[in-house]
Amino acid sequence: MKLKQLFIATGIAILTVSACKTGTKAEDYKWIKTGIDRAHQQLMLTAEEIDGTGKLPRSIWSGYDISMLEQQLERPVIKDSLRALPSADKLGTRRLCDIYDWTSGFYPGSLWYVYEMTGDEKVKAQAIKYTELLNPIREYTGTHDLGFMINCSYGNALRLSPADTIPAVIVQTAGNLCSRFDEKIGCIRSWDFGYWNYPVIIDNMMNLDLLFSASKLTGDPYYKEIAIKHADKTMPNHFRDDYTCWHVISYNDDGSVEMKETYQGKAHDSAWARGQAWAVYGYTAAYRETQDKKYLDFAQKIADMIMSKVKTEDAIPYWDYDAPALENTPRDASAAAVTACGLLELSTMVEDGSRYFNYAEKILKSLSSDAYLAAPGQNQGYVLMHSTGSLAHGSEVDVPLNYADYYYLEGLQRYMKLKGIEYKDL
Ligand code: GLY
Repeated sequence: MKLKQLFIATGIAILTVSACKTGTKAEDYKWIKTGIDRAHQQLMLTAEEIDGTGKLPRSIWSGYDISMLEQQLERPVIKDSLRALPSADKLGTRRLCDIYDWTSGFYPGSLWYVYEMTGDEKVKAQAIKYTELLNPIREYTGTHDLGFMINCSYGNALRLSPADTIPAVIVQTAGNLCSRFDEKIGCIRSWDFGYWNYPVIIDNMMNLDLLFSASKLTGDPYYKEIAIKHADKTMPNHFRDDYTCWHVISYNDDGSVEMKETYQGKAHDSAWARGQAWAVYGYTAAYRETQDKKYLDFAQKIADMIMSKVKTEDAIPYWDYDAPALENTPRDASAAAVTACGLLELSTMVEDGSRYFNYAEKILKSLSSDAYLAAPGQNQGYVLMHSTGSLAHGSEVDVPLNYADYYYLEGLQRYMKLKGIEYKDL
């Protein structure tokens, strides 16, 4: 080989090796395209199959095996708390929900994300149809989950297809969410059922985005002030010294704590996986909307705790961080997806966010693999497999969940934005 040719060949080899090392040119985003295309196919198949029912997809009807539940809980199950088993003919079929279910906003929200990433107008038409179905929620006051329901549906509609009628729905619903706030207690009441005096669950942090939106839309700080009071009261009461959190804090009428519990987790003192995910996402959003550094510091503490506590190789956590690490321990893909979204946003707010970004990327790659991503036409039209709703109640154990799909797609959207990736270039 002549000297000049040798220099060129060596140069190409060095460039190739360094591109692989820095992950620039040679980066492979096939996994993103696979995830989006699969979601497109699954969600549109679902739209076709549920057309005319007036309902929305939530999960799959599933049963449970009491000995497996007891192995996971490491205690006897409380029989009265188990959900009724579905009839045999329902098992394995799509579980639909009505618009008053806490998860009703996720399917329209998932359609909005797929529309945003692909630009497919057919998906947009379905997103509009299922968002409009939720219109009566604007009159509803029976739950704190109004944030999930309306922000994921109408909130995304406002972002991607603004129409004059949307802000009124958001503002009215935010007002109804505020009607659940008690000044003396300093929190929004989460649930109207159960034995607690005034239950507030960590999930409630996710509903504050609706209030931040309403203040931006109206210019009225009222909604945002309530969100801040809620976040401030939750911070000292919901968290343990190691930054894991309880699920439910119930308050007495004077604002003191009545009970600290973990309703959907392994035990009251365990770290229920999705609860930790709601916490990191919620406090990251609180910082985004207020620029108050105490929320940022807190979100980082929660994020660091999550990354140190998750025991699985692929970063998709067991349903509870304190569950026994057994081969058959159910995962919770929904907790992983919510965590990825929170960490991606957090990565942009701190000086060295790469550890959060890289962890979120690992989660999204795992979720986009065959281990979690449904095969085409399978999984009753859901995108992801292997989530857990409430194992302690024998409910939705190792099934697809509409909110796992929603936050997976939100995670892909956030990732692509941060990387400057466009679907058409994939
Ligand atoms: N917000 C209810 C749950 O996370 O299961």
